[in-house]
Amino acid sequence: MLSRVYSAATIGVDAKIIEVETNMSSGMPKYFLVGLPDRAVSESSDRIEAALTNSDASFPRGRVTVNLAPADLPKEGSAFDLPIAVGLLNVSRQLKTNKLDSTMIVGELALDGKLRPINGVLPVAVEAQKQGFENIIVPADNGPEAAVVEGINVYPFEKLLDVMDWLEDDIGEPLRVDIDEMFSRNGKGEILDFEDVRGQENVKRALEVAAAGGHNAVMVGPPGSGKTMMARRLPTILPPLTLEEALETTKIHSVSGLLPSGEALVTQRPFRSPHHTVSDVALVGGGSIPMPGEISMAHNGVLFLDELPEFKRSALEVMRQPLEDGSVSISRARMSVSYPSRIMLVASMNPSPTGDWYDAADPAGASPAQMQRYLSKISGPMLDRIDLHIEVQKVSYDELSSKSKGESSEQIRERVVEAREAQTKRFLGVNGVYCNAQMNTKTSRKICKLDDSSSKMLKKAITSLGLSARAYDRILKVSRTIADLEHSEDIRPNHVAEAIQYRSLDREGWLG
Ligand SMILES: Nc1ncnc2c1ncn2[C@@H]1O[C@H](COP(=O)(O)OP(=O)(O)OP(=O)(O)O)[C@@H](O)[C@H]1O
Ligand SMILES: [Mg+2]
Repeated sequence: MLSRVYSAATIGVDAKIIEVETNMSSGMPKYFLVGLPDRAVSESSDRIEAALTNSDASFPRGRVTVNLAPADLPKEGSAFDLPIAVGLLNVSRQLKTNKLDSTMIVGELALDGKLRPINGVLPVAVEAQKQGFENIIVPADNGPEAAVVEGINVYPFEKLLDVMDWLEDDIGEPLRVDIDEMFSRNGKGEILDFEDVRGQENVKRALEVAAAGGHNAVMVGPPGSGKTMMARRLPTILPPLTLEEALETTKIHSVSGLLPSGEALVTQRPFRSPHHTVSDVALVGGGSIPMPGEISMAHNGVLFLDELPEFKRSALEVMRQPLEDGSVSISRARMSVSYPSRIMLVASMNPSPTGDWYDAADPAGASPAQMQRYLSKISGPMLDRIDLHIEVQKVSYDELSSKSKGESSEQIRERVVEAREAQTKRFLGVNGVYCNAQMNTKTSRKICKLDDSSSKMLKKAITSLGLSARAYDRILKVSRTIADLEHSEDIRPNHVAEAIQYRSLDREGWLG
């Protein structure tokens, strides 16, 4: 007797079909599990035996071999419990069904026969649909997440007995979810809004520019000036996630097990703010069983590095490539996986180790040499990838206590969305470029043409302010974004002038 049940394994943010073959022959009762199972999979037989006995069934008595094919793909985790159990029931004629060929099955079993949720259901459902499966069986808690995928019937069940009933007698209805409703519901609960930020008009403007062009930014200012507060509000002015982006981001959260139970889709741009003690692996991903890091968890959203100079140099180093490529590749002996990491990087820092701006009159303040040393920690490679430097001053008491609200996130977002639409048109057909920040040097010099007066102004700024060479391309790109915010075809001198202001860390003698 041979039975075949279809399941799937996740690799990175994708899934591969796994065939669970079960063979039973007469002979001494013995159980073999082959096909590169890891420890959790090998231990499944104990769970399955208990679950079967607690579901009015029994573990087959005979010589049983379970093969997880293809054999060269490592199998991890507990998602194979359910397909193996179904295979055992089928091969021992305790379960008669003709649905096994058209149904994908995943789920972990508890000893009492209940189904426990697993990680990575979304990629599995996507793959099942792609491979033409009609149905997918998942644990109840994973139901909404799987049902986001259209074109496949999702059957979420509480326990093994329910699965058996459905396979034999078709008892149970497929789950349907309303994706539009998920998007609209999620926007409503939003509590963060730029209207809570008093004053700071220039910082808000700079963040609007950053959001409009997808530019990385660093905020420099003394403690309590509202850097963290404003960074947290950045996702509220970025364009809303498209369904495609939401699926990409949800897949990453799904495989790392961080999708809240019962939650189907990440519909808001993520905001991740790892502590500066974060390990390199936690930041960019990796591990013996590869897992996505913070930079991938922030995919399509914002990665916020608060107190940038406190981060280890190695942490900033390992982020360089992922920032450039928009993805992280992790190689292991048997496979290599890649996680997307298209993010907006926002960092914050104090201007000096004592916290405040340079003040020659303050005896307790840091000396220029101390400040230079402090800033040198982040110079070079990291600053190379940051388009906007935003200086943040403390707001006055009068401003803080004023009752008048600032502009709302929704109003700012409208302008950002319009500026992005211009970019979408511009980069139609350009591979891998969606916004101004993603232009490489060649593209930016072709697209960001300056007229005579703009280019004279830029030349003057570069020489008189002592701006470094790297500042040039950054200024071009940011000028383009500022022009887009103004619906201007051409980059004009006032756009360039504003962009130049956002290069303060490149300026010679900035500290004095
Ligand atoms: N412009 C502002 N409008 C309203 N509240 C503000 C403003 N600036 C600061 N605050 C208040 O001050 C608190 C501290 O701000 P926040 O933590 O963002 O400062 P920070 O610049 O990140 O400081 P640190 O360098 O210490 O991290 C905020 O939670 C907020 O309540
Ligand atoms: Mg802070």
